[in-house]
Amino acid sequence: MNSRRKFLKQISGAALAVGAAPSLMSWALPRPQVGAIELAGEDGMIVRSARFIDLESPVEYLNTWLTPVPHFFVRNHMHEPTELAADIWKLTVGGEVEKPLTLTLADLSKLESHSLVNTLECAGNGRSLHRPQVPGIQWGKGAVSTARFSGPRLRDVLERAGIKSTGKHVMFRGVDEVPGKVPPFIRSIPIEKALDSDTLIATQMNGSALTRHHGFPARALVPGWIGAASCKWLTEIKILDSEFVGNFMSPGYRFPNQPGKPGEAVKPEDTHVLTALNVKSVISGPLDGASLKAGKITINGAAWAGEANIAKVELSTDGGTTWNLAQLGHDQSRYSWRLWSFSWRAKSGDYSILSRATDSQGRIQPDTPVWNPSGYFYNAVDQVKIHVA
Ligand code: MTE
Repeated sequence: MNSRRKFLKQISGAALAVGAAPSLMSWALPRPQVGAIELAGEDGMIVRSARFIDLESPVEYLNTWLTPVPHFFVRNHMHEPTELAADIWKLTVGGEVEKPLTLTLADLSKLESHSLVNTLECAGNGRSLHRPQVPGIQWGKGAVSTARFSGPRLRDVLERAGIKSTGKHVMFRGVDEVPGKVPPFIRSIPIEKALDSDTLIATQMNGSALTRHHGFPARALVPGWIGAASCKWLTEIKILDSEFVGNFMSPGYRFPNQPGKPGEAVKPEDTHVLTALNVKSVISGPLDGASLKAGKITINGAAWAGEANIAKVELSTDGGTTWNLAQLGHDQSRYSWRLWSFSWRAKSGDYSILSRATDSQGRIQPDTPVWNPSGYFYNAVDQVKIHVA
């Protein structure tokens, strides 16, 4: 083990030692999946923050329709909760409801379970590529992954509680361990999205219980929307008569109403809350800087568009002068990325390879992204430079 890996293992091992084991009484209940990535930095993941565990998938991992859980990116704003026993976990449902509820995991398991494949992307994915650079976690291209999520529909739980006509937004609270003065992780979504038959209280990912990193024992899953909408370690749902006001709704996760000049401040009143993801593609291979042999080269990648579908992915091997259609993979479902590939006969030389996705709403990846002070929604045409010998 190299010294960097050893260091990460030591610090994250120390953090996990505190109350990390599930309670002995929870033997019959789901336990967090134990994967190779229990310790930050394992399994080739890029550690963007070891303090709060922020792990990026290397871009070459964006090459399977379902991301294996150990390769699924992790975004935490604070410490993961250490008390995760399934037998004492409770979810309260209150606010603008006729009948407030307190549900256990056993109660949730009695509701019909629904599954869907969702590409989860952090709104800050690609932040490091914005120019001028902006502060925040310096994500490269891999704060995005895809999994099959399962659990009861949020709608079924809300309907049991009885939504009053005054209920317009649904608030989620995560039970993260809040360091110092950081406000708790609380956000809300509009009631229409909450009542959508695909919005879940997810308890499973790729067919097994959620891992601690991904919100064990239950998280909100708001498909097609920015990752921040999908609150992990969910303990409270509250129906509100208006949008929740708090740090992770404002100033966090807001976007300028109009594109401004790169580097310029934006007034809060000229911004809106981020919801559905944008259209985007990335090249997962060959890697930037690769040196390859002349002949047949296959270029691979993934493309996604939030609530919309991918209509086409175009590839350029000459820096954007000419474009060709990439072949889209067979696996597809709403909210999930589409893998794509392009076969090319390459002669020796230096090449700039570009990928550009278009979605079913007619949105096209731009040459330059919309710069914004928080570095959200980087979705410019992707590029790798390779050498063919
Ligand atoms: N939920 C809680 N409670 N705390 C968090 O820090 N991070 C959010 C969201 N849910 C977060 C959270 C953000 S910003 C993202 S992108 C996704 O979780 C990431 O989900 P993942 O770690 O399962 O990939």
